[in-house]
Amino acid sequence: MEKIILNQEIQNYINANLNTDLHSLLLKKSPFPEVSMQEIVQQIKGKQVAQKKFPFLLKDRIIFPPQLNLEQSSSEKTALYKSRILKGKKFIDLTSGFGIDAYYLSQNFDEITLVEQNSDLLEIVEHNWDILDKKAKFLNQKLEDFLNDNKAYFNVVYLDPARRDNNKNKVFLLEDLSPNIIEIQEELRLISDEVVIKLSPLIDLKYLVSVLKGIFRIEIIAVKNDVKEVVVFLSKENSENIICNCVNLESDESVFTFNWGDEENTAAEYSEPEKFIYIPNNSILKAGIFNLISQRFGLKKLHPNTHIYTSNEKVNDFPGRILEVEVIDAKQIKKKSQFNIISKNYPLKPEEIKRKYGLKDGGDQYLIFTQSKKGKIIIKSV
Ligand SMILES: C[S@@+](CC[C@H](N)C(=O)[O-])C[C@H]1O[C@@H](n2cnc3c(N)ncnc32)[C@H](O)[C@@H]1O
Repeated sequence: MEKIILNQEIQNYINANLNTDLHSLLLKKSPFPEVSMQEIVQQIKGKQVAQKKFPFLLKDRIIFPPQLNLEQSSSEKTALYKSRILKGKKFIDLTSGFGIDAYYLSQNFDEITLVEQNSDLLEIVEHNWDILDKKAKFLNQKLEDFLNDNKAYFNVVYLDPARRDNNKNKVFLLEDLSPNIIEIQEELRLISDEVVIKLSPLIDLKYLVSVLKGIFRIEIIAVKNDVKEVVVFLSKENSENIICNCVNLESDESVFTFNWGDEENTAAEYSEPEKFIYIPNNSILKAGIFNLISQRFGLKKLHPNTHIYTSNEKVNDFPGRILEVEVIDAKQIKKKSQFNIISKNYPLKPEEIKRKYGLKDGGDQYLIFTQSKKGKIIIKSV
């Protein structure tokens, strides 16, 4: 591998420019004839992304790939969570990419194989893993070719498919991903105990359950209430039950577990707002378990289309935000007062509400514009 970029002088220059504006840097001439400014900026960008997304790579001599590969990588936080679920002898990642998932997910395995079609990227991963003293077999090929020749059996096969269209159009169908999981699912289930597939949070869960066979587990993983991944687990046997976990990392909320199908057999109770209201976290909302959450926590829902819940007694272990509230009249809203404005199942967006009532954003208080069964209401935190 060409490692001119690791030359100490160039590395010093990279480290000295970690906070420099990259656009202006790109307009300059590279001070080193043997590397372009673009290559230097790629390394600076990599270190900047690593600070937030994968700090374990902030080490000397680590090389970073182009921005698209950084964007496609998982974060250290979600990878670490997934790593706790997986264990066995042989692990293979068929879409290794920059190898963040593979690095963590393979922690509890003895033999690790990485498959990646992009040779430049795999070379970088191989170099970095050498620095990190992590051993693996690196295969630069298309996974379809690997599967054609493969005779080995794995405890876990992991895939994090890429979006086929690089123009960032959001695609939600499994057929639009590379590889096409629908086409290879049978083959994958034949060579492993467990097939684990990371998917976009935008994927529709009902669609997923209808097109993939052998699903026995689904993880909906959020970090600080931002849903980052939907991870689906397939086994050889067709499972009768699918366990679903809604997770909100970096919060003090515990994991909410339910069985796929529970929601359909559950009805919610309804009420006008009582002393406390509850706004579920986004992994719960993604799971669509709107009635189940009411039943499990003994809470009443405000309206069939308002996913806000209420009770007179506080339920502390609710996975989401809990507020003590009162219902107010629009006339009680003072101009220029400061609130966090929430609009749920309400015709106006927070920005429009802010303008209409002359409010300022922020502070500790909440103002929630929503609908109960009686109609439009405004709820204020106390
Ligand atoms: C989303 S990235 C994986 C990121 C990785 N999980 C991480 O945490 O760094 C997907 C990778 O799969 C690779 N890929 C897509 N289709 C492939 C195929 N048919 N065979 C081999 N690699 C493939 C792409 O080149 C890309 O690097």
